[in-house]
Amino acid sequence: MSIISPVRTADTSTPIIEVLAERWSPRAFDPIQPIDETKLTAALEAARWSPSAANSQPWRFIVARRGSAEFTSIKAALVGFNSAWAGSAGALVVAIAEMTDADGTARTWAQYDLGQAIAHFSVQAHADDLHVHQMGGFDADALRASFDLAENLVPLSVTAVGNVGSPDQLPEGTREREMAPRERRALEELLVVNS
Ligand SMILES: Cc1cc2nc3c(=O)[nH]c(=O)nc-3n(C[C@H](O)[C@H](O)[C@H](O)COP(=O)(O)O)c2cc1C
Repeated sequence: MSIISPVRTADTSTPIIEVLAERWSPRAFDPIQPIDETKLTAALEAARWSPSAANSQPWRFIVARRGSAEFTSIKAALVGFNSAWAGSAGALVVAIAEMTDADGTARTWAQYDLGQAIAHFSVQAHADDLHVHQMGGFDADALRASFDLAENLVPLSVTAVGNVGSPDQLPEGTREREMAPRERRALEELLVVNS
Protein backbone atom coordinates (compact mmCIF):
# COMPACT_ATOMS: atom_id res chain seq x y z
CA MET A 1 0.00 0.00 0.00
CA SER A 2 1.48 3.39 -0.90
CA ILE A 3 0.69 6.13 1.55
CA ILE A 4 0.17 9.78 0.64
CA SER A 5 1.62 11.30 3.77
CA PRO A 6 2.03 15.02 4.34
CA VAL A 7 5.57 16.35 4.07
CA ARG A 8 6.10 18.44 7.17
CA THR A 9 9.69 19.57 6.83
CA ALA A 10 10.59 22.25 9.36
CA ASP A 11 10.80 25.82 8.07
CA THR A 12 14.17 26.44 9.70
CA SER A 13 15.84 29.83 10.08
CA THR A 14 19.08 28.30 8.84
CA PRO A 15 19.75 24.90 7.24
CA ILE A 16 19.98 21.92 9.63
CA ILE A 17 20.69 18.29 8.84
CA GLU A 18 17.92 16.74 6.78
CA VAL A 19 16.83 14.03 9.21
CA LEU A 20 16.19 16.63 11.94
CA ALA A 21 14.30 18.98 9.63
CA GLU A 22 12.15 16.16 8.28
CA ARG A 23 11.40 14.40 11.57
CA TRP A 24 7.84 14.88 12.71
CA SER A 25 5.40 13.02 14.93
CA PRO A 26 2.52 11.41 13.03
CA ARG A 27 -0.58 9.96 14.61
CA ALA A 28 -1.46 7.92 11.52
CA PHE A 29 0.63 4.75 11.37
CA ASP A 30 0.30 1.94 8.85
CA PRO A 31 -1.89 -0.61 10.70
CA ILE A 32 -0.88 -3.53 8.45
CA GLN A 33 2.88 -3.48 7.87
CA PRO A 34 4.87 -5.07 10.72
CA ILE A 35 7.77 -3.05 12.09
CA ASP A 36 11.09 -3.69 10.37
CA GLU A 37 13.10 -5.52 13.03
CA THR A 38 16.48 -4.34 11.72
CA LYS A 39 15.38 -0.71 11.86
CA LEU A 40 13.82 -1.11 15.31
CA THR A 41 17.02 -2.67 16.61
CA ALA A 42 19.06 0.14 15.04
CA ALA A 43 16.93 2.75 16.82
CA LEU A 44 17.43 0.96 20.15
CA GLU A 45 21.14 0.66 19.42
CA ALA A 46 21.28 4.43 18.78
CA ALA A 47 19.63 4.96 22.18
CA ARG A 48 22.17 2.63 23.74
CA TRP A 49 25.04 4.79 22.46
CA SER A 50 23.67 8.05 23.88
CA PRO A 51 25.84 9.99 26.28
CA SER A 52 24.85 9.91 29.96
CA ALA A 53 26.06 11.28 33.27
CA ALA A 54 29.13 9.26 34.35
CA ASN A 55 28.14 6.78 31.61
CA SER A 56 25.44 5.53 33.98
CA GLN A 57 23.14 4.51 31.06
CA PRO A 58 19.95 4.77 33.13
CA TRP A 59 17.60 4.04 30.20
CA ARG A 60 15.50 0.89 30.17
CA PHE A 61 12.86 0.01 27.59
CA ILE A 62 9.78 -2.14 27.24
CA VAL A 63 9.45 -2.91 23.53
CA ALA A 64 6.17 -4.40 22.36
CA ARG A 65 5.20 -5.21 18.77
CA ARG A 66 1.63 -4.72 17.61
CA GLY A 67 -0.29 -7.96 18.15
CA SER A 68 1.52 -8.92 21.35
CA ALA A 69 -0.14 -9.05 24.77
CA GLU A 70 2.38 -6.47 25.99
CA PHE A 71 1.37 -4.05 23.22
CA THR A 72 -2.25 -4.41 24.33
CA SER A 73 -1.28 -3.67 27.96
CA ILE A 74 0.66 -0.54 26.98
CA LYS A 75 -2.14 0.69 24.72
CA ALA A 76 -4.60 0.19 27.58
CA ALA A 77 -2.47 2.45 29.78
CA LEU A 78 -2.60 5.35 27.29
CA VAL A 79 -5.04 8.19 27.83
CA GLY A 80 -8.08 7.97 25.57
CA PHE A 81 -6.87 10.46 22.95
CA ASN A 82 -3.60 8.58 22.51
CA SER A 83 -5.06 5.09 22.56
CA ALA A 84 -7.41 6.17 19.74
CA TRP A 85 -4.50 6.43 17.29
CA ALA A 86 -1.43 4.70 18.76
CA GLY A 87 -2.78 1.16 18.28
CA SER A 88 -1.79 1.37 14.60
CA ALA A 89 1.89 1.77 15.40
CA GLY A 90 4.18 -1.14 14.60
CA ALA A 91 5.53 -1.06 18.15
CA LEU A 92 5.12 0.81 21.42
CA VAL A 93 8.22 1.52 23.46
CA VAL A 94 8.01 2.48 27.12
CA ALA A 95 10.99 4.61 28.11
CA ILE A 96 11.96 4.02 31.72
CA ALA A 97 14.49 5.87 33.87
CA GLU A 98 16.40 3.81 36.42
CA MET A 99 16.57 6.44 39.14
CA THR A 100 19.18 4.87 41.45
CA ASP A 101 22.54 3.11 41.15
CA ALA A 102 23.02 -0.45 42.38
CA ASP A 103 24.01 0.94 45.82
CA GLY A 104 20.85 3.06 46.02
CA THR A 105 22.51 6.40 45.20
CA ALA A 106 20.10 8.73 43.40
CA ARG A 107 20.88 9.38 39.73
CA THR A 108 20.35 13.11 39.38
CA TRP A 109 20.49 13.08 35.59
CA ALA A 110 18.54 9.90 34.87
CA GLN A 111 15.53 11.66 33.34
CA TYR A 112 17.74 13.99 31.30
CA ASP A 113 19.73 11.03 30.02
CA LEU A 114 16.61 9.05 29.13
CA GLY A 115 15.24 11.97 27.08
CA GLN A 116 18.49 12.15 25.20
CA ALA A 117 18.39 8.41 24.52
CA ILE A 118 14.90 8.75 23.06
CA ALA A 119 16.12 11.65 20.91
CA HIS A 120 18.82 9.36 19.53
CA PHE A 121 16.21 6.64 19.00
CA SER A 122 14.01 9.09 17.08
CA VAL A 123 16.76 10.39 14.83
CA GLN A 124 17.97 6.89 13.91
CA ALA A 125 14.40 5.76 13.26
CA HIS A 126 13.70 8.73 10.99
CA ALA A 127 16.99 8.24 9.15
CA ASP A 128 15.71 4.71 8.43
CA ASP A 129 12.29 5.94 7.23
CA LEU A 130 10.42 4.95 10.34
CA HIS A 131 8.30 7.51 12.16
CA VAL A 132 8.16 8.09 15.89
CA HIS A 133 5.62 9.78 18.17
CA GLN A 134 6.41 10.23 21.85
CA MET A 135 3.60 10.39 24.40
CA GLY A 136 3.40 11.65 27.95
CA GLY A 137 -0.33 10.92 28.17
CA PHE A 138 -0.42 7.54 29.90
CA ASP A 139 -1.03 6.01 33.32
CA ALA A 140 2.40 5.22 34.78
CA ASP A 141 0.90 3.23 37.67
CA ALA A 142 -0.96 1.00 35.23
CA LEU A 143 2.32 0.25 33.45
CA ARG A 144 4.07 -0.35 36.77
CA ALA A 145 1.40 -2.90 37.68
CA SER A 146 1.33 -4.59 34.25
CA PHE A 147 5.09 -5.03 34.07
CA ASP A 148 5.81 -5.39 37.79
CA LEU A 149 8.37 -2.57 37.71
CA ALA A 150 10.68 -2.04 40.67
CA GLU A 151 10.29 1.17 42.68
CA ASN A 152 13.39 2.81 41.13
CA LEU A 153 12.14 2.28 37.55
CA VAL A 154 10.08 5.28 36.42
CA PRO A 155 8.18 5.08 33.13
CA LEU A 156 8.45 8.55 31.58
CA SER A 157 7.08 8.21 28.08
CA VAL A 158 5.56 5.82 25.59
CA THR A 159 6.83 6.08 22.01
CA ALA A 160 4.84 4.87 19.04
CA VAL A 161 7.10 3.76 16.19
CA GLY A 162 6.33 2.38 12.77
CA ASN A 163 5.59 3.23 9.17
CA VAL A 164 3.63 6.38 8.57
CA GLY A 165 0.00 5.87 7.57
CA SER A 166 -2.59 7.91 5.74
CA PRO A 167 -4.13 10.88 7.56
CA ASP A 168 -7.47 9.67 6.13
CA GLN A 169 -7.56 6.94 8.76
CA LEU A 170 -7.70 9.53 11.56
CA PRO A 171 -10.87 11.02 13.02
CA GLU A 172 -11.77 14.59 12.11
CA GLY A 173 -9.84 17.06 14.21
CA THR A 174 -6.87 14.74 14.64
CA ARG A 175 -6.60 14.59 10.84
CA GLU A 176 -6.41 18.38 10.59
CA ARG A 177 -3.70 18.44 13.27
CA GLU A 178 -1.79 15.87 11.23
CA MET A 179 -1.72 18.19 8.21
CA ALA A 180 -1.14 21.52 9.98
CA PRO A 181 2.18 23.31 9.55
CA ARG A 182 4.70 22.56 12.29
CA GLU A 183 5.54 25.55 14.42
CA ARG A 184 8.25 26.60 16.83
CA ARG A 185 9.17 29.68 18.85
CA ALA A 186 11.69 31.94 17.14
CA LEU A 187 15.31 31.08 17.90
CA GLU A 188 15.87 34.54 19.44
CA GLU A 189 13.18 33.79 22.05
CA LEU A 190 15.17 30.80 23.31
CA LEU A 191 18.48 32.53 23.82
CA VAL A 192 18.49 33.86 27.36
CA VAL A 193 21.97 35.19 26.68
CA ASN A 194 23.69 35.20 23.30
CA SER A 195 26.62 37.53 23.69
C1 LIG B 1 7.61 14.25 26.38
C2 LIG B 1 6.60 14.33 25.26
C3 LIG B 1 5.26 14.05 25.53
C4 LIG B 1 4.32 14.09 24.49
N1 LIG B 1 3.04 13.69 24.75
C5 LIG B 1 2.17 13.56 23.73
C6 LIG B 1 0.90 12.95 23.94
O1 LIG B 1 0.56 12.49 25.03
N2 LIG B 1 0.07 12.86 22.87
C7 LIG B 1 0.39 13.32 21.63
O2 LIG B 1 -0.41 13.17 20.70
N3 LIG B 1 1.61 13.87 21.39
C8 LIG B 1 2.51 13.99 22.40
N4 LIG B 1 3.77 14.50 22.18
C9 LIG B 1 4.15 14.94 20.82
C10 LIG B 1 4.29 16.46 20.74
O3 LIG B 1 3.00 17.05 20.80
C11 LIG B 1 5.03 16.83 19.45
O4 LIG B 1 6.34 16.33 19.49
C12 LIG B 1 5.09 18.35 19.27
O5 LIG B 1 3.79 18.86 19.05
C13 LIG B 1 5.97 18.76 18.11
O6 LIG B 1 5.56 18.14 16.93
P1 LIG B 1 6.62 17.38 16.01
O7 LIG B 1 7.23 16.27 16.84
O8 LIG B 1 5.81 16.84 14.85
O9 LIG B 1 7.65 18.37 15.59
C14 LIG B 1 4.71 14.49 23.18
C15 LIG B 1 6.06 14.78 22.94
C16 LIG B 1 7.01 14.69 23.95
C17 LIG B 1 8.46 14.97 23.64
